[in-house]
Amino acid sequence: MEPREISQAVIGRLPRYLRYLGDLKDEGIERISSQELSKLMKVTASQIRQDFNNFGGFGQQGYGYNVEHLYEEISNILGLDQKHQLIIIGAGNLGQALANYMNFERRGFIIKGLFDNNPALHGKTIRGISVQPMDQMEEFMKTNNIDIAVLTIPKTSAVEIAEKLVQYGIKAILNFAHVDLNVPAGIQVENVHLSDSLMKLSYNLSCYNKEQ
Ligand code: NAI
Repeated sequence: MEPREISQAVIGRLPRYLRYLGDLKDEGIERISSQELSKLMKVTASQIRQDFNNFGGFGQQGYGYNVEHLYEEISNILGLDQKHQLIIIGAGNLGQALANYMNFERRGFIIKGLFDNNPALHGKTIRGISVQPMDQMEEFMKTNNIDIAVLTIPKTSAVEIAEKLVQYGIKAILNFAHVDLNVPAGIQVENVHLSDSLMKLSYNLSCYNKEQ
């Protein structure tokens, strides 16, 4: 069925459902009720049902959901039934750490290229992917059907590089640079700021300490 307009909050919760369902699948569990899933994930059963109702409810019949079916449905909703080809711009500490992380590939995110403007890094390989100079990016994107770029460069150059990527046909950007990107409507941007999580943690820690 065609999903109706789904809130970003619901979309943001789907990967967590998928992780839990993946673990259940690996354990050989075939069915699970919303109550059991609720206990496991520490969210209310009504939240789970509401989330799933956005997509038609996934046919909970008799005793609970079919784990395999639910896993497949959520994977498809997240577009994980298709492979995505990625490039990473900035092959420093973070870029190399991401390039070394194999789990992206298991989810269908294939890292095809690494780019950096530091000549000392050109030719260095990370898991068989060699770091290329920036002037090869346009040609590489044309010939490799790249749809996602990961930005692990300083904020001073991220806006300019994002503009170039858009010109070269990028469709989505995972942005680690601490700056807001100015991209045309239709280009998807997801910002990742680990320091935001640390600040949230710091806030909660200081609240907890005051209560003691
Ligand atoms: P790094 O200095 O190790 O790597 C940055 C790389 O970008 C270097 O290899 C450099 O040569 C390259 N670079 C710089 N300007 C470029 C340009 N115009 N074109 C192509 N390549 C260029 O830094 P690190 O630790 O890997 O961090 C990368 C960026 O990510 C930093 O700006 C940092 O602030 C940010 N960061 C963000 C985090 C987050 O949670 N959002 C967490 C950690 C870092």
